Amino acid sequence: MTDLEDVESHFAFGENWAAYAESIGEEEIGEAERGLLKLLDRDEIEGRSFADIGCGSGLHALAALRLGARSINAFDIDKNSVATARALLTRHAAGASWSVTEKSVFELDPAEHGPYDIVYSWGVLHHTGNLDKALRNATALVGNNGLFVIALYRRTTLDPFWIAEKKWYMRASPNAQKRAQTAYRAALRLGMAMSGRNFSEYVENYRSRRGMDLDHDIHDWLGGYPYEAILEPEVDDFLTRMDFEKSRSIARPKTFGLLGSGCDEYVYRKNS
Ligand SMILES: C[S@@+](CC[C@H](N)C(=O)[O-])C[C@H]1O[C@@H](n2cnc3c(N)ncnc32)[C@H](O)[C@@H]1O
Repeated sequence: MTDLEDVESHFAFGENWAAYAESIGEEEIGEAERGLLKLLDRDEIEGRSFADIGCGSGLHALAALRLGARSINAFDIDKNSVATARALLTRHAAGASWSVTEKSVFELDPAEHGPYDIVYSWGVLHHTGNLDKALRNATALVGNNGLFVIALYRRTTLDPFWIAEKKWYMRASPNAQKRAQTAYRAALRLGMAMSGRNFSEYVENYRSRRGMDLDHDIHDWLGGYPYEAILEPEVDDFLTRMDFEKSRSIARPKTFGLLGSGCDEYVYRKNS
């Protein structure tokens, strides 16, 4: 294991999820369900076994259960994420078949975990310290004809700047982090004004993005380290070699990255 694969070298994602989870209610759960349905049809979820790698708050594991998944096994390397996801699922999915386990994607062994009908990992594998190895480990858990659903940061010209920023941010004091968040929010507002978009409307509608919340997402973006990024042709190439075929994607080409990056979303099916 390299140092970057060790949770000690990671941004404290779980603390952010713990704070965010307090605000999760029916509205956020409904948006998370709609986020999943952008990538998967309901009948692709119903009755299926589902692994959520890097479950964070547990919101999307919960959404998958609500959409009819037969069982959910959620995993996260961060003990605070695990506690938060367990509390959320206990609150909203008592009696359903689920588990949340503190484990890294690098510890998931297909002989013990899986195979699954659906392996879902949204916004995670690029934060593990070794994207290639994480992709290999996660794909190994997908059963024949199963689906691999992932979101990965898109490469930008400013990736080296953002990596340096994240390294600084995760070690910065809470006050310095707050100042960085304020500066980022101001830059976002300015960028939107310059492109004729309405910032207040954007903030108001932000939850419609998978049930997430702008302030927690800003903290997550500014601190999310380790960080890697990738483009669609590279993902295609990698997964084709792993015997997967693309079902759908929502992806864009490389951007400049002045305000950071965004996640491209992919669904691949394992050939049987
Ligand atoms: C940006 S969050 C995404 C959370 C969730 N999937 C979502 O869509 O809201 C990244 C999550 O990946 C987890 N993570 C990072 N490295 C991991 C690893 N090696 N194995 C499992 N989870 C990991 C973090 O602890 C964090 O909860």
